[in-house]
Amino acid sequence: MGISLLVKNCSELITLAGKHPRKGVEMENIGIIKDGAVAILNEGIECAGKTDEVIKKVEITPKTKTIDATGKLVMPGFVDPHTHLVFAGTRETEFELRLKGLSYEEIAKRGGGIKNTVRATREASEQELLALAKIRLDRILEWGTTTVEIKSGYGLDFENEMKLLRVIHELNRIHPMEIASTFLGAHEVPEEQSKAEYINLIKGMIVEVSKMSLAEFCDVFCERGVFSYDESLEILKFAKGHKLGLKVHADELSTSGGSLLAGKLGAISADHLVYPSPEGLQLMKKRGVVAVLLPGTSLTLKSKNFAPARKLIDMEIPVALATDFNPGTCLIEGMVVIIGLGCLLLGMTPAETITSSTINAACAIGRGDRIGSIEKGKQADIIILNIPNYKHLSYRFTTNFVRYVIKKGKVVVSTE
Ligand code: NIG
Ligand code: FE
Repeated sequence: MGISLLVKNCSELITLAGKHPRKGVEMENIGIIKDGAVAILNEGIECAGKTDEVIKKVEITPKTKTIDATGKLVMPGFVDPHTHLVFAGTRETEFELRLKGLSYEEIAKRGGGIKNTVRATREASEQELLALAKIRLDRILEWGTTTVEIKSGYGLDFENEMKLLRVIHELNRIHPMEIASTFLGAHEVPEEQSKAEYINLIKGMIVEVSKMSLAEFCDVFCERGVFSYDESLEILKFAKGHKLGLKVHADELSTSGGSLLAGKLGAISADHLVYPSPEGLQLMKKRGVVAVLLPGTSLTLKSKNFAPARKLIDMEIPVALATDFNPGTCLIEGMVVIIGLGCLLLGMTPAETITSSTINAACAIGRGDRIGSIEKGKQADIIILNIPNYKHLSYRFTTNFVRYVIKKGKVVVSTE
């Protein structure tokens, strides 16, 4: 059968083919093919390799669309495995307060932070939230992200958490972006309830989320002043019992037991990890938990400390990168910017940041078998950038060089 799309003459084709998730020195292996090509049949990849070899192997018919990628970098679409992209309102005043020296936690204690966005999000209708999020997704797609995880967590009551999850579900239906949905009812304690009451309500919401298949994962903000280790354990155990995959906002602002919890429960990922404990990291390694690092958040929070990426890689814990896109602690849209920060703030190599934002990021949302690399049998999620090699990504991380975005074999963004 003739192929539907051929991308040929790529200056550099980065496949990330082979083992996943990548750990330790494997993270340097990104599968570089000079003068590469990718053949696509409908939604999937037929084959990838040197241009002359691919052309010999596949059937090209008059119906085959061809993209000449001379001088360009071709790689898997980025996967952003941690965002809070559905919300209303903005928090620029808090940004200014932080510049004046107030900490994130101090602002939260005064009723700002997450609670501030909860107030605005509760007031917004489903249609308003959908429209706001759609604009954000359009831009993120233009930056080359083809799959994104989105968390609820700005509703904090039954009606509003379900509203957010329905918006996420609808976005997945109407937008080319593929979305993994996470229930983060345990993002904060709402103003109107005690923590014990709210934990009961969270359990009720988990039952509904599971019954209606409204989310794949359950996340908890395990942090001093928010949910303790024991409270987070109780919530995540309950979620596990209802067949949800587990994620943790772990050790973001202090060593709060998050990495330990993720390791103990065998969560799919532990995210942030600016202050992980040694025991937590050992358990994460043992259970194969992916470490999702969010350097844009540390930067926005003016943190003096950053996630110990080198240590995690040396320990052979698989590392992924994400934006954490949210109105309070990071409004970076493009994974390319995060790649630059991964190198500059976390000490990662350019190749490690590519692995972290594609195949390892796919593993952090349970999609490593289907997306995140360019090889036969995988979904055709591919981007074409106007740069000659992958090193330009971190070197020139504030520019968007994406010229084509291909999602499930279809060109969904084209700027040429
Ligand atoms: O990942 N830490 C909790 N959640 C977000 C921040 C959300 C917010 O401030 O609105 C984070 O940093
Ligand atoms: Fe987050």
